Amino acid sequence: MSTVPSRRPIVFSGAQPTGQLTLGNYLGALRHWVTLQQDHDCLFCIVDLHALTVRQDPNELRQNIYDLAALYFACGIDPARSTVFIQSHVPAHAELAWLLSTFTQIGELERMTQFKDKAQRHHHNINAGLFTYPVLMAADILLYDTDRVPVGEDQKQHLELTRDIAIRCNSTYGPLFRLPDPLIAVEAARVRDLQEPTKKMSKTAASDLAKVMILDEPDAILKKFRKSVTDSLATIRYHETEQPGVANLLDIWCAATGNSRATALDHFSHHQYGRLKNETADAVITLLAPVRERYHQLSRDPAALQALLADGATRAKERAAGIMNRVKSAIGLPV
Ligand code: TYM
Repeated sequence: MSTVPSRRPIVFSGAQPTGQLTLGNYLGALRHWVTLQQDHDCLFCIVDLHALTVRQDPNELRQNIYDLAALYFACGIDPARSTVFIQSHVPAHAELAWLLSTFTQIGELERMTQFKDKAQRHHHNINAGLFTYPVLMAADILLYDTDRVPVGEDQKQHLELTRDIAIRCNSTYGPLFRLPDPLIAVEAARVRDLQEPTKKMSKTAASDLAKVMILDEPDAILKKFRKSVTDSLATIRYHETEQPGVANLLDIWCAATGNSRATALDHFSHHQYGRLKNETADAVITLLAPVRERYHQLSRDPAALQALLADGATRAKERAAGIMNRVKSAIGLPV
């Protein structure tokens, strides 16, 4: 009896090299990527073309790209098991984005909350790239026949658009693209800003106290949690709208320790906010310490890092080429 090797589901995800990553990026995305490697065929991308939608200093951008790669590996992405590469090293991303843009309606892009948000924050530079950003993201995903896309809650709308574009293409040309499913974690899918807990924690937040960075030293982490904004109710229960700051700390503690919300409430309900803040800080410090250590080791050898990325790009290019040929043939471009 012959056995056909089963195809492992394909995972694609990425982060922008726009400065250091936050605890939100780690809990909402990167730590899940690490686990998915066990039984998925994973591609993890440093999406540098996406970062260009906001003006970047060239030297800083280059450094941020390599720093982000080092961080991926430090978090536990294994280059022997997963394909890790820089988006701009694989031109097919931009090429497919152009083709997909002809299947995307302006009205759909106008509805994207991230676009509306960013257009407001960067009102002096509302460039066409900022507007078509989700089309490039759809190209990233559809280019590899991706089955699952692990992301935080904030990317859900972009994933829905990706599926809509794929469905539209498939209804015109037959089964051209695989329909990807978002994988959004149940807990910590939206880690909030420590100073304004109704907002998501973002690497671009103006205040340092608002965000814990993956590479923060322990004393900085402790300080940020101690100064985090809660409320004046002086009671620890989980209520996202009435007590967003407390709910955020509980979520972070759960995600960092692997405990359930029920256990967290049991553990903290008779205590004061100070205890919740300190224990959450401790849990995060313990969680991030090995990542920080590995990161500093990896950063000492930029040549090795670049070799890994070159290898990842070669593998990604090969995979992308097959799918691009399929797409071009289907739509009538000579291959
Ligand atoms: P980016 O770089 O903003 O964030 C990287 C990942 O981190 C998640 N995330 C969070 N999760 C929980 N709480 C938070 N506060 C938080 N902040 C960020 C994001 O959801 C994301 O999963 N457009 C994407 C990058 C991208 C991409 C892709 C992702 C480009 N192409 C294709 C997946 C597939 C972005 O800007 O992520």
